[in-house]
Amino acid sequence: MRIALAYNAKPSARAEIQAARPEMLVEEDEEPPSPDGGEESDLYAEWDNAKTILALADALAQRHDVVLVEARQDFAARIRAARPDLVFNIAEGFHGASREAQVPATLEMLGIPYTGSDPLTLCLCLDKARAKEILSYHGVPNAAFVLVEGETDLKAAAAVPLPVLVKPLFEGSSKGIRDDQLVRDAGDLEDRVLRVLRRYDQPALVERFLPGREFTVAVLGNLPDLRVLPPVEIRFDGFPEGSNPIYSWEAKWVWDRPEAPLTVFDCPARLTAPEQHAIEDVCRRAARVLRLRDWSRIDLRMDEHGVPHVIEVNPLPGVLPDPADNSCYPKAARAAGMDYAAMALAVADAACRRLGWTL
Ligand SMILES: Nc1ncnc2c1ncn2[C@@H]1O[C@H](COP(=O)(O)OP(=O)(O)OP(=O)(O)O)[C@@H](O)[C@H]1O
Ligand SMILES: [Mg+2]
Repeated sequence: MRIALAYNAKPSARAEIQAARPEMLVEEDEEPPSPDGGEESDLYAEWDNAKTILALADALAQRHDVVLVEARQDFAARIRAARPDLVFNIAEGFHGASREAQVPATLEMLGIPYTGSDPLTLCLCLDKARAKEILSYHGVPNAAFVLVEGETDLKAAAAVPLPVLVKPLFEGSSKGIRDDQLVRDAGDLEDRVLRVLRRYDQPALVERFLPGREFTVAVLGNLPDLRVLPPVEIRFDGFPEGSNPIYSWEAKWVWDRPEAPLTVFDCPARLTAPEQHAIEDVCRRAARVLRLRDWSRIDLRMDEHGVPHVIEVNPLPGVLPDPADNSCYPKAARAAGMDYAAMALAVADAACRRLGWTL
């Protein structure tokens, strides 16, 4: 099968990809316009590096013909010219709340099948409040919340009993979730909400703080055959003295350094059979109501009674190939006996099965 890998690469990754796999690359006619923000700004935090793109391409190339198509503004023309049978989509897109839907929506227009969830689901999951509304409608546990849309609306934040977590509505990688976004004192609330509104230019989600154990769970395939891979527990006991028990920006990007790695993850998580069952059940219910396809990572946290709640759902999970980078989807796949290549091929196979293709 001919598979096109659709991605957004950090600017610094382009030359490396060009040098490493020139034969796989579907080139652009001219240097693409760059989104504002400069080299390697926050803007690119979610875009992939060359190592990930090349590792995925090599994994898929074990069984398929692979071409690399960067999801820039001329994506529609180049993907059409590449004539793939299937697009393996990891593109994060450009700007704003619809960014993750751009590639799937373009592929829908062109009639080209692709891995992963459709544009509606990608938009829904990126908008954490919308996703929570749907989960709530269907009775899937998630933290009580209010959305503060703007500065005239600040009083609304007090509707959720403290402690609360204040976070941007549509970011990932803990952008905007600094350690002190966990608010215990009413006097701090307005400041933390304003910080999100002003810095991220988007509404602030104010959520009840779930104090229990935290897990991130990789799911693979499609209902009714959805596989829930071994849960990864996120442990806070190795965090610096005095920090909050949240997987904050600092925990992901500052405290965890190669020379002094944080021991954050337990995989498979140590769970009793009822806990495992409760986690699998909430993941399946979230997958059903959000219509997740092929693969996703679901973040969960227990309340004070040990009931797992959905924090948020990532239908485009990060997949850093180096085990030292602690990327949770590949970690869970490894715990299930799949190396990186087997994981990537399994995602493509899941899409093929969903499309009714014989493998
Ligand atoms: N309601 C909550 N109760 C307790 N902790 C929470 C809550 N919401 C978020 N957190 C903490 O903050 C972390 C980051 O939140 P969240 O997963 O929403 O951010 P993200 O930036 O989308 O993450 P990702 O890197 O998975 O994309 C969580 O892993 C968890 O530790
Ligand atoms: Mg998360």
